[in-house]
Amino acid sequence: MISTRPFAHPDARSPLFCDGVSLDTLTKNYGTPLYVYSENQILHRLRLFAGAFESIPHLVCYSVKANSALAILKLLDKNGAGFDIVSGGELERILRVNKASAQRVVFSGVGKTAAEIDLALRSGILIFNIESAGELDLLAERASKLRKRARIALRVNPDVFAETHPYISTGLREHKFGVDIRQARAVYKSAAKQKYLDSSGVSVHIGSQIRSADPFGAAAERIAQLVRELRADGLPIQSVDVGGGLGIEYHSEHSFNPEDKIQQYALALLRKLRPIENLRLLLEPGRFIVAQAGALLTRVLYVKKNGEKTFVVTDAAMNDLIRPALYQAHHDIVPVVRSKGARKKVVDVVGPVCESGDFFARDRGLPELKPGDLVAILDAGAYGLSLSSNYNSRPRPAEVLVDGKRARLIRRRETMDDLLAPEQI
Ligand code: LLP
Repeated sequence: MISTRPFAHPDARSPLFCDGVSLDTLTKNYGTPLYVYSENQILHRLRLFAGAFESIPHLVCYSVKANSALAILKLLDKNGAGFDIVSGGELERILRVNKASAQRVVFSGVGKTAAEIDLALRSGILIFNIESAGELDLLAERASKLRKRARIALRVNPDVFAETHPYISTGLREHKFGVDIRQARAVYKSAAKQKYLDSSGVSVHIGSQIRSADPFGAAAERIAQLVRELRADGLPIQSVDVGGGLGIEYHSEHSFNPEDKIQQYALALLRKLRPIENLRLLLEPGRFIVAQAGALLTRVLYVKKNGEKTFVVTDAAMNDLIRPALYQAHHDIVPVVRSKGARKKVVDVVGPVCESGDFFARDRGLPELKPGDLVAILDAGAYGLSLSSNYNSRPRPAEVLVDGKRARLIRRRETMDDLLAPEQI
């Protein structure tokens, strides 16, 4: 069985491994900061996810924004996944991996441009998740201009509260996402008048890092009702896209069983949606597939004291992994090499960026660290590199994908030449 966490010390004296690869050795080859991902874990999660929906026709459309490394997209593509995209750039990535996979792409996002819509129409994507009446008009115009038919789903806002960080909650009326579910029928009616548009689905996404299955069930109930109404209106609704959002547990001391989680999630959705005949489910998981497959390795540069506080300064920073700074997110941090008898110390783990928000942990009890030590910031496979920047003119880390005992570089470390290439004096 594959463990929840692919990053582990095989025995008391060995360094931290990712599957069959020693992370100590890995950083000797590739330097730090370094993102490392476990291929086995990604595939395990994909299968777990798909397996939970076996009883209904479905397609798992991995949410590209969570981790858009081409090698990871290719891995998922080869294993039958479709993709949820939110930009023309993400579509270009899919086309680069496999042109034919465009037919397994769902296109979400509140601000699609005409150029992005054209690219998606020409590529023959599976379905557009429409987020406003204005977008519907633009799509109708572009589709008739290009003489390409488009399948559409309205992304409805079900007005369901889901407990998560306010920045990543999306399913309430006050949020910018989707169309108010009470106006949906009217918008579908106007879509039905468009020659090049086929209203074939309904979609919803209520937010991210949602750990209870209940809000998903509540949203599914409202969607099921809408599907019945739309079919009664004569629309051939064939698919429901339930979005992504299933959370993981970032604290290793809290128990987390992904098998149970996915079962509860599937049950909450299927209870409401399986009774509807001839329905295909589209699912857009991101975090659940890749978060726990990844870690960010970083080296301690300095340990300094300011008054009562001890700061462990690492060579990774908020530009490499912004989740703690942006959402006060917790990530476990573990030393790669365990030093015998190291005492625990309460420290802040911080990066070199000139912002007090540049931290990975605050007041965290960790085994005593010294300059040169390596630590792994865990569960960084989702919204890590994909949300990184070059702030402070810092080249982005390299990325390595581990397959059993083999590790391969899937993105080389950026150079200053990469950063400066678009500029001129
Ligand atoms: N579908 C749509 C339309 C989305 O907007 C998202 C995420 C997903 C699917 C995938 O959600 P997931 O299964 O990964 O929760 N940067 C934040 C998360 C932002 C999520 C944005 N939308 C973080 O690091 O927590």
